[in-house]
Amino acid sequence: MTYVAPSHRAHSRFIVLGIESSCDETGASVLRDKGDLLSNVISSQVDIHALTGGVVPEVASRHHLEQVNAVVAEALSQAGVGFGDIDAVAVANRPGLLGALLVGVSAAKAIAFGLDIPLIGVHHIEAHIYANFLTNPNAPLPAICLVASGGHTEIFLIRDHGQYEVLGRTRDDAAGEAFDKCARVIGLGYPGGIEIDRRAKHGDSTAISLPRAYLTRDSLDFSFSGLKTAVLNLAKSELGNHPIEDWCASIQEAIVDVLVKKTIMAAHTHEIRSVMAAGGVAANSSLQARLREACEANGMSLVIPAPLFCTDNAAMVACAGAYRFANNLIDDLSLDTFPSEPLALASR
Ligand code: KG4
Ligand code: ZN
Repeated sequence: MTYVAPSHRAHSRFIVLGIESSCDETGASVLRDKGDLLSNVISSQVDIHALTGGVVPEVASRHHLEQVNAVVAEALSQAGVGFGDIDAVAVANRPGLLGALLVGVSAAKAIAFGLDIPLIGVHHIEAHIYANFLTNPNAPLPAICLVASGGHTEIFLIRDHGQYEVLGRTRDDAAGEAFDKCARVIGLGYPGGIEIDRRAKHGDSTAISLPRAYLTRDSLDFSFSGLKTAVLNLAKSELGNHPIEDWCASIQEAIVDVLVKKTIMAAHTHEIRSVMAAGGVAANSSLQARLREACEANGMSLVIPAPLFCTDNAAMVACAGAYRFANNLIDDLSLDTFPSEPLALASR
């Protein structure tokens, strides 16, 4: 429920504390106004979940609980501010692992209640998109934004701040899931995306022929399950016949080709000249380079966050929260958590 408490209206200068705990990173960040980043602290659980080859939700919640207070304290300390300096607290409350979200939301509620400051619930995918405004506050709108993460692959038309239209989405696996599942098939650890990126730099992307699913000619939807099956089948007989670097480069190119072509196609179809990218997969070096080339060749502007702001972090939550705070879009202490909620429906 969004309400505007007159005593809590945003003044022209303000400080927002952002908290992120939707999956396996506990993050806290302090942002002054909409774009002056004072700190961005991330405690990653990657090493813990690598032991099980993926995120175990119960384990993730437990570690968030152990880390959240220290991460918030560290973010304040690095920013050189105290609790008393914060004007609002923003927290990712949807979508994500319920138990994990609950930890961040409970911490944010305690801080908001204790300090009597506004609480702002932020959609995790909206936060990923706002990493672009953190990167460039003047990023032109309307824009086409590719969001590709471990759980999401969507193309959005962003008409204005807070106004999203889904133009296309994956029909099965997310792009990050495809990276991670293919990585596992070829014997790499979790999470595989970053490892594929690293090794692909020394591989030949034409070495192994892999499918690209474009679906119908003008479809902006994605499908990555066929790629995963193809890698699984081919690897049974061919894994040892090619250097692992060639597998990585071939898998990466098969995913990146489709992501880039459909993003540019969406921009052409909707006559948009501004492109953005967000989510963990947007950290991929080949995707960043290919999107740059494609935007340049098509006369489009591109904003793409640095890798640290593509993968899960609290700075993006603080930034999305700051825009909401500036527009007096604040919540109350009944703020709930939701495991899944489409962004277009969630935007207010
Ligand atoms: O956005 P994110 O950090 O968390 C979610 O909200 O899901 O995205 C995580 C996903 C994982 O699948 C991970 O393998 C992938 O992003 N990823 C990458 C790279 N860095 C992270 N995929 C390809 N190349 C990378 N450099
Ligand atoms: Zn994410």
